[in-house]
Amino acid sequence: MKIVMLGAPGAGKGTQAKMIAEKYSIPHVSTGDIFRANIKNGTELGKEAKSYMDKGELVPDELTVRILLDRVAQDDCKNGYVLDGFPRTIPQAEVLDAELTKMGDKIDFAINVEVPDENIVRRMSGRRACLKCGATYHIVHIPPVKEGICDKCGSELVLRDDDKEETVKNRLAVYHEQTQPLIDFYDKKGVLKEVDGTVDSKDVFAAITGILG
Ligand code: AP5
Ligand code: MG
Repeated sequence: MKIVMLGAPGAGKGTQAKMIAEKYSIPHVSTGDIFRANIKNGTELGKEAKSYMDKGELVPDELTVRILLDRVAQDDCKNGYVLDGFPRTIPQAEVLDAELTKMGDKIDFAINVEVPDENIVRRMSGRRACLKCGATYHIVHIPPVKEGICDKCGSELVLRDDDKEETVKNRLAVYHEQTQPLIDFYDKKGVLKEVDGTVDSKDVFAAITGILG
């Protein structure tokens, strides 16, 4: 099963993708997580990605596509995957589509998690992220058992550099301009499914499993 998660920054793509990955035993592939891991490890890729991410801009398609195709070519992706944060532009979606078509394959579901912009800025300021394992929490809605510490791996939780209010506003603007057109792209392919992302994360997940079966 190959799934694409769509939705604004902070809509809950990562939160839901992790639950999907666990339930259906497929890898969770997040380009944002891959970039953040590279930033943390001080790689050249990380340095380049950070210069865009800190402004809330997109990392150039060429670089992002290369990283993603490398990742999904790995063995653990043979039986499917859930993509979170990719594709984010029409050219990215077209490259992915062409690669899958070459293998006689396709995306099965594109799940759009809908959350209005007003809710987003509020959510982001409360988010805490684990840069080691990619787990995400919210200080009010989804708190870790021990404040500031990741439940899954015990690392310290941080406020992401790009979760500052001004940067979040730019990420939203970039989303509406470059990423929202993907809703139409996948609708035309007949694989688009929409879920309400404003309800409790467990209820969002119930709606998603209702779709995936
Ligand atoms: P990325 O890491 O993908 O960030 P994003 O799209 O901005 O999305 P987020 O991770 O911020 O939000 P999310 O939807 O995953 O929400 P989450 O589950 O955490 O990308 C970061 C940057 O990397 C980009 O800006 C770009 O520069 C670059 N990049 C990445 N991919 C790229 C690509 N393909 N092309 C080019 N550049 C790329 O939830 C948010 C918060 O809400 C959390 O605190 C969570 O606990 C809470 N929450 C979740 N669900 C609920 C709920 N139902 N109710 C209440 N709270 C909830
Ligand atoms: Mg995320």
